Amino acid sequence: MRMRTEQGEGQVPGTDAAPGVRVDVYVKPGDAQRALREEVLQGLCQPAPKELSPKWLYDERGSQLFDDITRLPEYYPTRREREILHAHADDIARLSGADTLVELGSGTSEKTRLLLDAMDAAGQLKRFVPFDVSEAFLRKAADGLAHEYPRIAVHAVVGDFEHHLGRIPRVGRRLIAFLGGTIGNLKPAQRALFLRELSSGLRPGDGLLLGTDLIKDRERLFAAYNDSAGVTADFNRNVLRVLNRELNADFDPEAFEHLAPFDETHAWIEMRLISRKAQSVWLGDLERRVDFAQGECLRTEVSCKFCREQVQTELRDAGLDLSAWWTDSDGDFALSLAMKR
Ligand code: SAH
Ligand code: TRP
Repeated sequence: MRMRTEQGEGQVPGTDAAPGVRVDVYVKPGDAQRALREEVLQGLCQPAPKELSPKWLYDERGSQLFDDITRLPEYYPTRREREILHAHADDIARLSGADTLVELGSGTSEKTRLLLDAMDAAGQLKRFVPFDVSEAFLRKAADGLAHEYPRIAVHAVVGDFEHHLGRIPRVGRRLIAFLGGTIGNLKPAQRALFLRELSSGLRPGDGLLLGTDLIKDRERLFAAYNDSAGVTADFNRNVLRVLNRELNADFDPEAFEHLAPFDETHAWIEMRLISRKAQSVWLGDLERRVDFAQGECLRTEVSCKFCREQVQTELRDAGLDLSAWWTDSDGDFALSLAMKR
């Protein structure tokens, strides 16, 4: 795949990256649109249960809505993970010994600043590599970080962590952070592939810092994904607005109800959009019609919940040895540090 690189530091005229920021783009708007079409043909236009992958939720508006979710009273994962980072960022910096922090699905990198500060204080930080599929949002975050951390290189990668892990720069001693429980948005088979692929690109001494949400009281799990202000519902319906824009579709988002129940068999929260009535939707660019029965469900995301044994086993199977496991004071969320064997 061809790629566009923009070098900061004023070397390339006509680019808008801030000084000290480099941006590599592996997912261009055209690629994303082609991939979306293929997925819609597979996931919406087949007789099987309707499903889309979660990355389509995160256009600029979706990324903003997710950021709003992280501040909801019911959505505990962000606060719990921040608590753990607060308590252990120094340990993480020391145990990892890394000079390069890579963050997958970085979003705003808000909590990550705790790690950057600890690595910086230890005098070991050289570069930060935020990696996200959402280009506009990533660029903004990268520019902000470059201003806040003028001594380090910020090298942003616009990529899909299911396809472009091989593009992570192979420089320095790396700690890969994958926070927010986002790994739970991959189903078990995808997750095993992802971890193996990630691990195969690491060198002994490189590490993975993994955030996982833990199995807990069902009511609190449910509330975190079905908040009373309806922000998660809005986030979920945003995928329909993305389809309208990218494929000239005519979804009425309000004709779908948000529900995110916990599936006991798979130990995952399942984000659903449920058709309030029998309806057909026109996908303009695909020249196809999609029919929904009343009550028919479109699955937009799963969010797997874990226990320690599960995380440890999955890491080990990928060649990563658990070297530390920390939870918040309520045992809601966990951070694992694992080193490449
Ligand atoms: N790490 C942040 C954000 C989590 S939300 C936090 O802990 O709060 C999930 C993030 O992953 C979003 O920024 C989204 O754009 C990104 N993302 C989702 N699917 C992706 C994919 N396939 N490849 C790369 N990034 C992805
Ligand atoms: N990574 C987040 C999580 O799994 C994404 C998310 C936020 C989400 N709200 C959601 C996933 C609702 C499924 C349902 O927690």
